[in-house]
Amino acid sequence: MSAVRLEQITGSDARLRQALTAADLPTDDIEDDGRAFFRAVVGEDDQIAGFSGLERCGSDYLLRSVVVPADRRRGGLGRALVEATLANIEDDGDVFLATTHAAPFFAGLGFVEVQRQSVPGAVLATRQLSSICPSSATIMKLARQSHTATDHDHDRQDL
Ligand SMILES: CC(C)(COP(=O)(O)OP(=O)(O)OC[C@H]1O[C@@H](n2cnc3c(N)ncnc32)[C@H](O)[C@@H]1OP(=O)(O)O)[C@@H](O)C(=O)NCCC(=O)NCCS
Repeated sequence: MSAVRLEQITGSDARLRQALTAADLPTDDIEDDGRAFFRAVVGEDDQIAGFSGLERCGSDYLLRSVVVPADRRRGGLGRALVEATLANIEDDGDVFLATTHAAPFFAGLGFVEVQRQSVPGAVLATRQLSSICPSSATIMKLARQSHTATDHDHDRQDL
């Protein structure tokens, strides 16, 4: 498969909205400030391989709006899309996400399920987690910060 290339787009991109709607993902807040969205393209003719978004939450991030067109799934594009998106993060902030159907996919990328009470307030305050995503959504975390032994033990108790 050709390498995925990411291009930054705005939340008002019509094809982003269309792809999220087709996958039943939230669109209510995509034009709010503080979000970065990406279009992934492959091939010499820049075929669309998916979309993704990052939202800054204090020192952490919310990974959101991850979608691969239905007819292109299960071919490695989702993994490539998420890895390329995370490569845009220049610091060591942890990455959180909420998902209703794709927890096994994200687990394969190193995300682990966490309970709401262990999620930082700035992440819980995002529109995705505070109002748009159903409370039954699975919240997952990719820990990217270096932890002391004590921090690590504390995190484990929170899981
Ligand atoms: C989730 C999604 C982005 C995955 O895209 P994809 O291109 O199918 O993913 P990949 O082909 O890169 O899959 C990577 C691995 O995850 C596995 N996987 C993908 N989707 C899975 C699922 N729903 N359940 C279990 N495993 C899954 C693949 O089998 C593959 O495993 P492998 O590395 O052992 O071969 C895609 O299914 C999608 O757009 N879903 C709808 C939108 C959505 O739910 N987004 C997440 C919320 S933000």
